[in-house]
Amino acid sequence: VRYEEKYRPQYHFSPDHHWTNDPNGLIYYKGEYHLFYQYNPQGNIWGHMSWGHAVSKDLLHWQHLPVAIEEYANAGGSDSTMIFSGSAVADDQNTSGFFPKDSGGIVSIYTSHVHSRGQQLRQHQSVAFSSDRGRTFTRYEHNPVLDIKLKDFRDPKVMWYAPEKKWVMTVVIPDKFKAQFYASKNLKDWTLLSTFGPLGDTAKIWECPDLLQVPDVADPSKKKWVLLISNSHPQGPKYVGMQYFVGNFDGKKFTPDNPSQYPLYLEYGKDFYAAVSFSNIPTTYGRTILLGWANNWAYGQHIPTSPWRSAMTLPRELYLANTPKGYRILQRPVRELASLRGDSIAFDPATETALDKASEIEYIFNGGSATGFGLTLHTGSNEETRIGYDKTKGEVFVDRTHSGPVFDPGFPSVERASARLKDGKLKLQIYVDHSIVEVFVNDGEQVITDQIFPTGDYVLKTWSEGGDAIADVKLWKMRSVWK
Ligand code: FRU
Repeated sequence: VRYEEKYRPQYHFSPDHHWTNDPNGLIYYKGEYHLFYQYNPQGNIWGHMSWGHAVSKDLLHWQHLPVAIEEYANAGGSDSTMIFSGSAVADDQNTSGFFPKDSGGIVSIYTSHVHSRGQQLRQHQSVAFSSDRGRTFTRYEHNPVLDIKLKDFRDPKVMWYAPEKKWVMTVVIPDKFKAQFYASKNLKDWTLLSTFGPLGDTAKIWECPDLLQVPDVADPSKKKWVLLISNSHPQGPKYVGMQYFVGNFDGKKFTPDNPSQYPLYLEYGKDFYAAVSFSNIPTTYGRTILLGWANNWAYGQHIPTSPWRSAMTLPRELYLANTPKGYRILQRPVRELASLRGDSIAFDPATETALDKASEIEYIFNGGSATGFGLTLHTGSNEETRIGYDKTKGEVFVDRTHSGPVFDPGFPSVERASARLKDGKLKLQIYVDHSIVEVFVNDGEQVITDQIFPTGDYVLKTWSEGGDAIADVKLWKMRSVWK
């Protein structure tokens, strides 16, 4: 039965069948959140990239819709164009002229990836528009709209820059570790504003940029500019991960605060990439929502799932915290998620507690002499995933080296992120969803998202080392969004 397959996440988005990678065109429009996504309509590995499509009213329950923009063969030639990653905007003022008089619609801006017999020829930026709430798209007849004659030039993220009433596109030249900003009045004619980078992490190509405003957690009416870049992982360039810069954007140029503090990383889990924000969120909501791909290019095409492969992370609200070291991003699961909490389950530390495969766990360390403490998710004989805190190192960790059969040598790993006790306490908010584990530390100061592919049932235990740990543990079963 669909959505009851082994490893199928119950409250994370995954396509019904076939391969997905990056979320694309995230937009809130006329009461619906749209999730377009890199999709292979023909198979369960990367290829024939097109934009898959789903809509939701609450960011959790998704309705699948037909493929929105599909790979196509180019007239008269042997080459074809794939629809690579990009964004979507609400063109309510009809700045593009794509819509009938006095109406507007959604315009998507994507990378047109031209290839012939497996050879990559050119990448440029193109647009398509929809007058029917994203149900169907028409590709603009004069595409591409931005071509600087490069093989690698991609992932346009467009936003409305209100002070100058213009559109601003952020796009990357991946192998040069550069982001560029372009401006347009009509989404068709683009002029270069400035180039940013290289800076921070340049161990791997730059992809999927996003320039966005993030509210200060202390006063959400105050916002600062943040530039997100998908590139390499804090634990080494073998894996992909995400870095970010905090600074100012003046309509032309992005200037990072304190350039010597970079790189800064958004996540320390291995399964978080290509995350971008939703556009057109009503300002009354006052929030910035981010969604990422819960997989890693290092092993992603080998994960043992079928008939689909890959899922999205939980949607997260982003905030900035002003710390002595500078502004740092906080990520919190969207508040809607609380609505999926089912019955709370009693947890007895003295015994083993059976855990539903779709659960939320809150673990609060309240004190004790332990040098290490946390939880273990037992999932079969000799199988466990260990989540905890190492006081000596000051690090939260997720250890999936023994989480299940090894299907790819790059998969087993330990993720570590620095974290501090606050008034002697540490809070771990853990979302377990069959094959995805997301750990939010101290209300979003650190996040670790990791996939696991265990064989057996899930049993939860607490542990401590070098002394005792006084912990409050709460468990909830999470409702499926697919039933
Ligand atoms: C990132 C990425 C993007 C590209 C897309 C292709 O994961 O490589 O740069 O547009 O995937 O599927």
